[in-house]
Amino acid sequence: MSLRLAILVSGRGSNMTAILQAIADRRLDAQVCMVFSNNPDAPALETARSFGVPTAAISHKGLSRAAHEQKVLEVLTPLNVDFVVLAGYMRIVSAEFLRNFSSPDNRYFRVINIHPSLLPAFPGAHGYEDAFAYGAKVSGITVHLVDEHVDHGPILAQMSFARYADDTIDSFKSRGLQLEHKLLPEVLQEIAINGVHFYSRQTEAVSEAELNTIGRTT
Ligand code: GRF
Repeated sequence: MSLRLAILVSGRGSNMTAILQAIADRRLDAQVCMVFSNNPDAPALETARSFGVPTAAISHKGLSRAAHEQKVLEVLTPLNVDFVVLAGYMRIVSAEFLRNFSSPDNRYFRVINIHPSLLPAFPGAHGYEDAFAYGAKVSGITVHLVDEHVDHGPILAQMSFARYADDTIDSFKSRGLQLEHKLLPEVLQEIAINGVHFYSRQTEAVSEAELNTIGRTT
């Protein structure tokens, strides 16, 4: 199934670009209906337009979370997207917002986030910095479904990478970011082909076959 996507961004938009490039290269069967930002100055908006994608921006400044989310929904709802992708969207989304994107079977919300650590380690706005400062020898990235809690929903895929002895925070980040740009389009393509699959916590182990699935291990 070709996926209808909306991408929410706040800044640079390199993950958004990775999605748009994967679509252009026919590695991802999807259409980006809208790139939305809470930051009207986000460089991502100009990049999205260069790919011919419609954009919208509504600043959250001076608005309550509920009032801002209402305006975002006015933009997103008519688009009838299959998934909303949070790609560097630096806003917490409320449970009320998420309920607008319930899956048909009500098992999850059709909202996906990419996070720069191996969750549940290092949630929050500074995943790379926190993992680096902690001295983690192995870190990684996580693509997950969004739930009511921050950086918490069901994990769809993770990739890990080593910290090298001579790493700086910049080299560490840039190694992780390269993996982000690979994994996010792959996970979306997996969903386009096979739908959403995730393990209920504490009830199912990951099978050997699953471990061999592209994108789930490094
Ligand atoms: C990425 O590291 C992503 O994991 C995190 O925010 C950053 C966004 O970068 N959620 P970009 O805007 O996609 O370049």
